[in-house]
Amino acid sequence: MAVLGCPRCEQTLNKQADGRYGCAACNVQFPILELSGAHVPFLWPEPGAALRDWRNRFNMALADVEQQRTLCTTEGATGAQLERLTRLTAALEEYEKELKRLLEPLKPGEAIAKETHLALRTRLPTHHGVLSYAQNIHRDWAWGDAENVAVADHLMDVLAAADLPTEPRVLVLGCGAGRLAYDLHQRLRAGGTWALDSNPLLCLIGAAVSRGASLDLTEFPLAPVDIEHVAVARTLRAAPVENLHFVCGDALRLPLAADSFDLIITPWLVDVIDASVADLVGAFARVLRPGGFWLNHGSLAFTGADPANRMLATEFAEESERLGMEVVTRQDQRLPYLQSPASRQHRSELTYTQLARNKNTDVQTGHRHQHLPDWLVEGKAPIPLSAEFQTQIHTTRIHAFIMSLIDGNRSLNDMAQVLEDQRLMPRADAQQAIRQFLLTMYEEAETHRGRARG
Ligand SMILES: C[S@@+](CC[C@H](N)C(=O)[O-])C[C@H]1O[C@@H](n2cnc3c(N)ncnc32)[C@H](O)[C@@H]1O
Repeated sequence: MAVLGCPRCEQTLNKQADGRYGCAACNVQFPILELSGAHVPFLWPEPGAALRDWRNRFNMALADVEQQRTLCTTEGATGAQLERLTRLTAALEEYEKELKRLLEPLKPGEAIAKETHLALRTRLPTHHGVLSYAQNIHRDWAWGDAENVAVADHLMDVLAAADLPTEPRVLVLGCGAGRLAYDLHQRLRAGGTWALDSNPLLCLIGAAVSRGASLDLTEFPLAPVDIEHVAVARTLRAAPVENLHFVCGDALRLPLAADSFDLIITPWLVDVIDASVADLVGAFARVLRPGGFWLNHGSLAFTGADPANRMLATEFAEESERLGMEVVTRQDQRLPYLQSPASRQHRSELTYTQLARNKNTDVQTGHRHQHLPDWLVEGKAPIPLSAEFQTQIHTTRIHAFIMSLIDGNRSLNDMAQVLEDQRLMPRADAQQAIRQFLLTMYEEAETHRGRARG
């Protein structure tokens, strides 16, 4: 039975002679990313646009690493500080090389200036950057077993309440670098496990390591224990396993066939995904067979602007029931979380784990892909001048005009005078407005500088 499906129309995909997948109905081909002999299908509804987007994020991450390195100036430093900054500089140089090797499959090409990314808003919220989950990579494949075993033990205890078939088919959504998928795949003696994440770096590492490759990736602990641990050269590795498949795609637009899985696991996903629980369940209910199980684990409310989505465990259970998922068991468990042996900072989390049975019997489709407009994807049709765009254009022009007045000579009062001369605003109002605008700019610059310094 074919498990992969088109993320646009949900039809079965064809495997072509060159190993790529294609959808005949949509006439779309999907790239395959390859690292150390491991192949990860890149199954996004608009694969070309998504690949360019991830390339940009990668270039942005590299620009950040480079900026860190240039900030590590040793000028004026002496003694222990000099030693630390020297080590850090060398490690960041190595890190850049490692990242380029790992993300070569994205064919990153020429980096464009960081300012251009910022202007084009290709800089994403930090929780979706290429390196957002760097610590998870090291936890999964370099720090040893303790933390991973504690989580897998707990989840196996909870799964004892699930009457899974022998050799179940398992899907892990938001799998990160893949260790939990790797551990549960073996412990459940799964017939096949599919591990899906939107981040290609994590998918590639998971795929390569779980088929036996060794990869180098420096760790930069948050609070290094001592000088030896300012930057730690790590090797990511594991014993190879069979039938564990990594897929790069969007959990909200699943590239999977209907009724394919006996168990779907969402570990540490609901708290970061840009969607409500209803959207997430709506997206995966189609691929979970009726009577199959959904295991949710991790934190429930971490980010998200909408207060309605920052749920307590009781609300989450109620919402799951409303969505046709019968709650079988729920548990709070304190577990270690991202405890690097090289760091003074150690987290533990009161995790929430919920096992539910899929009572939906007639899920026609999940959350179908809404096609992006052609003017956005293909770039040939005129861009509609909507009212929202007009407002943005106007404010951007004013911002650009004010910024263009900053020439290293003019004072805030001089700038206010220009605005009055241009009949844009009375001088007194302009002073107030420019001060506020520059204050925001100044604070953003300071915050960014602080962050870049770590
Ligand atoms: C907090 S991390 C947890 C990773 C992993 N489950 C673990 O426990 O280490 C959340 C993961 O969800 C992924 N993610 C976020 N939004 C996603 C989406 N729409 N589709 C697929 N993965 C997504 C992120 O890339 C990240 O790997």
